[in-house]
Amino acid sequence: MPRAAGAGLDEGRAGTVPQDKSRGLRRLMDLPTRPWMTALGKLLRTTAFKLTLVYLTVFAFFAASLLGYFAWNTRRLITDQITRTVDAEITGLSEQYNVGGIRRLVFVVDARARRPGSSLYLVTTFNGEGLAGNVGSLAEGVMSKAGWTETVYRRLDDPEGTEHHALVRVLQLPGGFRILVGRDLEERERLLDIVLSAGQWSVAVVIVLGLAGGFFVARRVLQRVDAMTETSRTIMAGDLSGRLPVGVSDDELDRLAVNLNVMLERIEALMRGFKEVSDNIAHDLKTPLTRLRNRAEEALRTGGGDAGYRAALEATIEESDELIRTFNALLMIARAESGGQSTQMDEFDAAEIVRGVGELYDPLADEKGIALKIEAPAPVPVRGNRELTTQALANLIDNAIKYAAPPHGGADGKPPEIVVTAAEGEGDKVLLTVADNGPGIAEADRGRVVERFVRLERSRSEPGSGLGLSLTSAVAHLHGGELRLEDNGPGLRAVLALPRHGRQLPTPAD
Ligand SMILES: Nc1ncnc2c1ncn2[C@@H]1O[C@H](COP(=O)(O)OP(=O)(O)OP(=O)(O)O)[C@@H](O)[C@H]1O
Ligand SMILES: [Mg+2]
Repeated sequence: MPRAAGAGLDEGRAGTVPQDKSRGLRRLMDLPTRPWMTALGKLLRTTAFKLTLVYLTVFAFFAASLLGYFAWNTRRLITDQITRTVDAEITGLSEQYNVGGIRRLVFVVDARARRPGSSLYLVTTFNGEGLAGNVGSLAEGVMSKAGWTETVYRRLDDPEGTEHHALVRVLQLPGGFRILVGRDLEERERLLDIVLSAGQWSVAVVIVLGLAGGFFVARRVLQRVDAMTETSRTIMAGDLSGRLPVGVSDDELDRLAVNLNVMLERIEALMRGFKEVSDNIAHDLKTPLTRLRNRAEEALRTGGGDAGYRAALEATIEESDELIRTFNALLMIARAESGGQSTQMDEFDAAEIVRGVGELYDPLADEKGIALKIEAPAPVPVRGNRELTTQALANLIDNAIKYAAPPHGGADGKPPEIVVTAAEGEGDKVLLTVADNGPGIAEADRGRVVERFVRLERSRSEPGSGLGLSLTSAVAHLHGGELRLEDNGPGLRAVLALPRHGRQLPTPAD
């Protein structure tokens, strides 16, 4: 069944967003979208501009209410004043009537009516005939109704057709005469006009100034947000070195930019670390894997019977264990470096850890002819990750045993010796120290030995993959502490300095 064109059109539009509609409307009206229109639209949509509009509306409403209240009160005040003076005057005149009769009243009214001013007087007979006063004409029925009326009138000396407004009071006198006393309202109306036009002008000025201010603020904010958007686009495109512009005013946008920059810094460091790890793995694990493969190939090629194969397999297992150890160390370093808040942190006694690890390494030190001294008599409480701290300390003791043992150790002629201590250090630090009297590390090499896979040339004879100090240093950083390598004159003193209360998160700029 053919559908009505209108129905089809409506269905087609159903579900479209309002912008589409306005775009459709624009096309319909054949209006090209100019760049300044888009810029203006952007400006009008900013939070700063919307906030200005809200404040402006509230303020304009408040100003209008204030002026309205002022106008209404002024009007009431003037009316009150008129009422009071008219009341007093009419009482006085009726007393004159009571004392001197209609003659006296007419005389007095006549005299007052001649005075210039805004007062109105009229005395009439019971059938409305004017006896004295300055009123030329009145609205119909005013004189016949006693009490207060707001009416139009013309003064006697005014040309025909002139009309004024007045507030009048009519009083019926005992003999059937009537007296009217009133005041012209021109003054009251003029005052109201002044207040109203002042109100209109001030509201108009408030709106114009407010809108101009809103545009100015919105434009400033927009410019800065646009600059941020531009930078974030380059960052999104892959250039992690980009940083958001930070102004000098230290306002909320500056603080946001500072915090985002700190975040970008962290992301960049993590990405760099990630890249380094993958580069290292690719580069440094290739050699042992190739060696493993070559050994297996060699065993296959040369044969050698069961014993030969067995020996080759044992060597393969040993080499594989070494590879697994390296992988584990790399994983631990990566975890420690990126761990941050996800790492479990507890309160524990560092002295207990020193004693425990010392005990573990004592037989090995003994076997190598090294005296291992543990000096941790008093408890040293610290907040951190127990397992990682143990591992870090074990790496330092392992190094000391490996590199301070004969023939390297005892460089000062004294028997090789390692002293491990746990103590409270300067400030809020806890210091775990491993000092040996081996060859030590030259000052120039102390920076690079903590990098992954870095081993000094003379250490090649010892087993190891150059990851021990990297892990220790990563653990120190994870805790917000540091690994210091110092001269023990002779030998190396490795100090693992950890903050007593654990890692303090960097305070964001607020
Ligand atoms: N106590 C020390 N005395 C002298 N040199 C040291 C000492 N500790 C470390 N080094 C030097 O620093 C290098 C890096 O040490 P690291 O612990 O990172 O690796 P490694 O001991 O060679 O291997 P791994 O710890 O992975 O088994 C060592 O190869 C060694 O040259
Ligand atoms: Mg080591």
